[in-house]
Amino acid sequence: MATRLLRRALSATPSLSRSLSTETQARTTTATKTKTFSIYRWNPDNPSKPQLQDYQIDLNQCGPMVLDALIKIKNEVDPTLTFRRSCREGICGSCAMTINGCNGLACLTKIDSSSSPAMITPLPHMFVIKDLVVDMTNFYNQYKSIEPWLKRKNPPPEPGKEIPQSKKDRLKLDGMYECILCACCSTSCPSYWWNPESYLGPAALLHAHRWIQDSRDEYTKERLDAICDEFKLYRCHTILNCARACPKGLNPGKQITSIKSLQIVKDL
Ligand code: SF4
Ligand code: SF4
Ligand code: FES
Repeated sequence: MATRLLRRALSATPSLSRSLSTETQARTTTATKTKTFSIYRWNPDNPSKPQLQDYQIDLNQCGPMVLDALIKIKNEVDPTLTFRRSCREGICGSCAMTINGCNGLACLTKIDSSSSPAMITPLPHMFVIKDLVVDMTNFYNQYKSIEPWLKRKNPPPEPGKEIPQSKKDRLKLDGMYECILCACCSTSCPSYWWNPESYLGPAALLHAHRWIQDSRDEYTKERLDAICDEFKLYRCHTILNCARACPKGLNPGKQITSIKSLQIVKDL
């Protein structure tokens, strides 16, 4: 039985190698399609002015997304290029950067196949740690400041069991729970650029509203009071850059407007 299988495999080998060589030939004869990627470079260990460095990539040998090109450059051309990435599926939010002037996720942004260079820079108005990696400390502290967890004054209706929520109440969280904290919105907001310490920014405010709207949370008034501030909340001027930048299709500006309406109702 084993001999018969071996003979069959050997007799199949010539046709296999023929098809492999045809495939290799086809690949080598495909014309190269070179694209330039101009990437922001800055290294704290060798402090000099930041600069754009050009890399040429053959798009026929690269995956379709900007993150594919960055990974190819790092693996095959320049291992010193530094950027964050993890999931490669628009879920972790770590590959946020500015691509041709727009904030977005490198893993969800297709490489534009035009002949013009692709310019890739870090998220704007953030301190750069190295190359495309920015310091997210202030952003995460602002998120933490809105206390993004369920807060209760009373014990659950049934001890040890989940707190029930109607379908209607659950639907109120749509458009907010999907946020992946990538910071594309906050770093595209002019109000956040000029007041990064005092204005909470669209991402943190969207999350504040997510907990304000949660029917299971019992600190709605306290949450509203905590952010009702000329700077924390009212620096938003409804310019809506945030909605344009969000790679998940969310609209933080709309959520901020809802918080402002709730503030007005509460103070009546
Ligand atoms: S709507 Fe508000 S949060 Fe959004 S970009 Fe404009 S000012 Fe910033
Ligand atoms: S609202 Fe959108 S852009 Fe802003 S942090 Fe969340 S996912 Fe990112
Ligand atoms: S790598 Fe996770 S969102 Fe892009």
